[in-house]
Amino acid sequence: MPHLHRDQIRSVLESEYTRTVDRGRLPVVERELTRLTREDIKGAVVELGCYRGAMTTWVRAVLTALGDERAVHTYDSFQGLPRGGEKDNAAVPAGEFTAGPEDVTALHDRFGLRRPTVHPGWFADTLPGRLPDTIAFVYLDGDMYDSILTGLTHCVPRLAPGAVVLVDDYADPTVPLDQPTVAKPKYPGVLKACQDYFAAAPYPVTCAAESCELGIYRQPQPAAV
Ligand SMILES: C[S@@+](CC[C@H](N)C(=O)[O-])C[C@H]1O[C@@H](n2cnc3c(N)ncnc32)[C@H](O)[C@@H]1O
Repeated sequence: MPHLHRDQIRSVLESEYTRTVDRGRLPVVERELTRLTREDIKGAVVELGCYRGAMTTWVRAVLTALGDERAVHTYDSFQGLPRGGEKDNAAVPAGEFTAGPEDVTALHDRFGLRRPTVHPGWFADTLPGRLPDTIAFVYLDGDMYDSILTGLTHCVPRLAPGAVVLVDDYADPTVPLDQPTVAKPKYPGVLKACQDYFAAAPYPVTCAAESCELGIYRQPQPAAV
């Protein structure tokens, strides 16, 4: 099924990859990638936690439709989630979301999309030596406290001015946006890691405008003179 149109790819992802992508997440990713392209924010796209590659594929589908050839790097243990620590939900089993790099590349091939660079291994092992120098967009989807903190620690210093970090499962989407942000019961470590990493920063992660399902951090840009 080569060269499917972006909207057809979205339909396939929404119907076959319901565990990890949905109508809430895909438009936010599309909007932010479109902004990066229009504002000519330089740098690669990085996804931490790709599982079977649904979001990686959506990223490339959107970039292709925009005529944007920037590099996409995606990282995963391909052994599923690590065992959680004291800031995580003990009921989440280690090994959930196990897949293989071939799942990611096969999904791109199915749609005739350029493959990403896939980096198998634990974030703590791969990120120190295998991140692109300049990053424009991060999709942080590691679910656990240590995974999120490791991702922020290595990626934020490489962000281009105007770059964006989207944090999946940031907070409880059932809590109204005008009430205090509350951790998602299944993945409480995600919010905690963001709060701990940005404790002293002037621009913390906030809920995306649509829902706390995604957190959003924008790297400041120098003021125009
Ligand atoms: C919810 S899944 C990602 C879903 C994916 N973004 C998608 O669009 O389908 C979370 C993934 O993060 C990976 N992961 C979590 N912590 C990790 C770590 N410390 N190092 C490597 N991979 C990790 C797991 O293996 C799992 O595949």
